[in-house]
Amino acid sequence: MIAPSILSADFARLADEAAAVAGSDWLHVDVMDAHFVPNLTLGLPVVSSLLKATDIPLDCHLMIEDPARWAPPYAEAGAYNVTFHAEAADDPSGVARDIRAAGAKAGLSIKPNTPIEPYLEILRDFDTLLVMSVEPGFGGQSFMPEVLDKARTVRRLVDAGELRLVVEIDGGINDDTIAQAAEAGIDCFVAGSAVYNTDDPGRAVAALRAAAAS
Ligand code: DX5
Ligand code: ZN
Repeated sequence: MIAPSILSADFARLADEAAAVAGSDWLHVDVMDAHFVPNLTLGLPVVSSLLKATDIPLDCHLMIEDPARWAPPYAEAGAYNVTFHAEAADDPSGVARDIRAAGAKAGLSIKPNTPIEPYLEILRDFDTLLVMSVEPGFGGQSFMPEVLDKARTVRRLVDAGELRLVVEIDGGINDDTIAQAAEAGIDCFVAGSAVYNTDDPGRAVAALRAAAAS
């Protein structure tokens, strides 16, 4: 699956920018609060408008503090997948339960330096694991291949039937890096600058699909 990240899109033309990647599996929406990460993007009002403007399932990536309070409303609004950060949550499974009860898939994200082992037990409460391959906060950073070991660990558990999860990666994905991520067993690839910093975002998505399969 390919999930273009609108972080690199033109925020004044979000409906058009979504239409430009029609046929993508998910549309990745980065919500930042200037506290959990040193950047500020958009929130629930923009997500609600975007839901009316596109049929692509929204993959909301919440880089925010206090997800117990702020994450469920994104599910209530109609996001397909609501992912929050393990580092920001006191009770990740409880937040996942509330997201699911509100009708969305629940995702857990971990930053590049966060180990996966402490979270393996609770991954059964989630539908998605989002492995960050850059420090969250900004688009256009370089891919960190060392995070792929975490993806491989989880991939093995999924393949063994011990977990049911979409394994997603976010940060620095482009035509060159996507192959190694695919090899590590990633199911869903987020790409911001590699899609939207081009003349033809639709063609960029097709190129990423081809590069992942090669
Ligand atoms: C970064 C965001 C990413 C960002 C990726 O914190 O979570 O989704 O859009 O951008 P690229 O693909 O340019 O690394
Ligand atoms: Zn993201």
